Amino acid sequence: MLTKGLRIGDNGHLFIEDCDAVELAKEYGTPLYVMNETLICENCKRYKKFFSENFSKASFPCYASKALSCLEIYRIMKEEGMGVDVVSGGELYTALNAGFPAEKIFFHGNNKTEQELRMAIKYGVGRVIVDNLTELEVLNEIAQEMNSNVNIGFRIKPGIDAHTHDYIRTGQIDSKFGFALENGEAKEAVRLALECSNLTLCQVHCHIGSQIFDTQPFADAVKVMLTFIAEVKNEFGYSIKEFNLGGGLGAKYTEADAPLEIEEYLAPVAKAFYEACQELCIEEPSFHIEPGRSIVGEAGTTLYTIGNVKEIKDVRTYVSVDGGMCDNIRYALYKAEYTVLNASKNEGTVLKKVTVAGKCCESGDLLKENADLTDPKRGDILAVLTTGAYNYSMASNYNRILRPAIVMVKNGRSRVVVQRESYTDLLNNDI
Ligand code: LLP
Repeated sequence: MLTKGLRIGDNGHLFIEDCDAVELAKEYGTPLYVMNETLICENCKRYKKFFSENFSKASFPCYASKALSCLEIYRIMKEEGMGVDVVSGGELYTALNAGFPAEKIFFHGNNKTEQELRMAIKYGVGRVIVDNLTELEVLNEIAQEMNSNVNIGFRIKPGIDAHTHDYIRTGQIDSKFGFALENGEAKEAVRLALECSNLTLCQVHCHIGSQIFDTQPFADAVKVMLTFIAEVKNEFGYSIKEFNLGGGLGAKYTEADAPLEIEEYLAPVAKAFYEACQELCIEEPSFHIEPGRSIVGEAGTTLYTIGNVKEIKDVRTYVSVDGGMCDNIRYALYKAEYTVLNASKNEGTVLKKVTVAGKCCESGDLLKENADLTDPKRGDILAVLTTGAYNYSMASNYNRILRPAIVMVKNGRSRVVVQRESYTDLLNNDI
């Protein structure tokens, strides 16, 4: 299986956009994250186009930068006219350093520190998405002290069960994120927010989970959230002007995944949005979303060099590569499935069933079990597809392994956007 922007060249090598993966590996070394910039930009343009044709002028899509955060991605998002969602002072700092406009940043998180809240106010982020009552109180105090007014949103749990992995399901009441609707907590939060001298409640937000293939839970969430806006209007006479549906659209990792195209996902969402506004007789709020995976996921491919091939007779064959859970923790963490292929010779013959293992001192450090690989040999380049989201951003230095470089490819040309770490980098903070 090949995802968007990938093909096998006449020489049997994998091509990413118009670049030969084996040549990229030779030029930049491995492991290497290769990002197809053309595809990232195309995805943003598709989101933007749908928005400009279907939603009000004040509406815009944001990129959820937890999926992949580095200076260049914020520069691209700025260029594409997207907003961004950040979840830490570190992501905020990176976005600001890339010259990303603060007013188009939404700051999330269930436990922002006071230092992070101060930073958000100081730099004037567009919205602080408040998660809980304590944060509401603390933020108001800090805003008073800094003599500022802060535009806020509320993270709300809409009580929608999206069928995805337990760890990435967030819409239900038993979740650490946000205010619950069922027990009146969200209403109480509105009442209190309206009393806060230095906060203006602008937005309600929900995020029901990630890697979702079905449109129904999104449409249901839209209905629930707009009903909440209507209730707030009726009970408090207050109009909440913005609605944010979060992220969650799935990406294709294996043949078994059938993600919707961006427009196929947005069309029923827009329909649910306008129907609910009409039914509830509310003024249409501006509309926002925060896709991460569906923008960068399939745009990423990780290249490794195959090292030792260990055949354990009647048990299995381990093919070890020069990275692993340190650059892609998703199999170890979620048993996430990937497609792997031999980028050096993918003619589809002599397939071998193997387990692809990383180089960390950890038996669970695997990238894929039961992988069909074309004749894997030491020195071949192995590609793992759909690694653009939640790979680099979740990478670690476990075993003091160096984090790989990121190379962007566009129109057949490549450039480094994040350098490979060096041994000196490892000692940067050691005293
Ligand atoms: N907005 C909020 C508030 C979120 O919490 C998330 C993801 C997103 C947007 C973006 O969701 P996306 O469009 O990427 O599905 N590490 C996990 C994924 C965790 C997602 C956390 N929140 C993984 O590797 O699958």
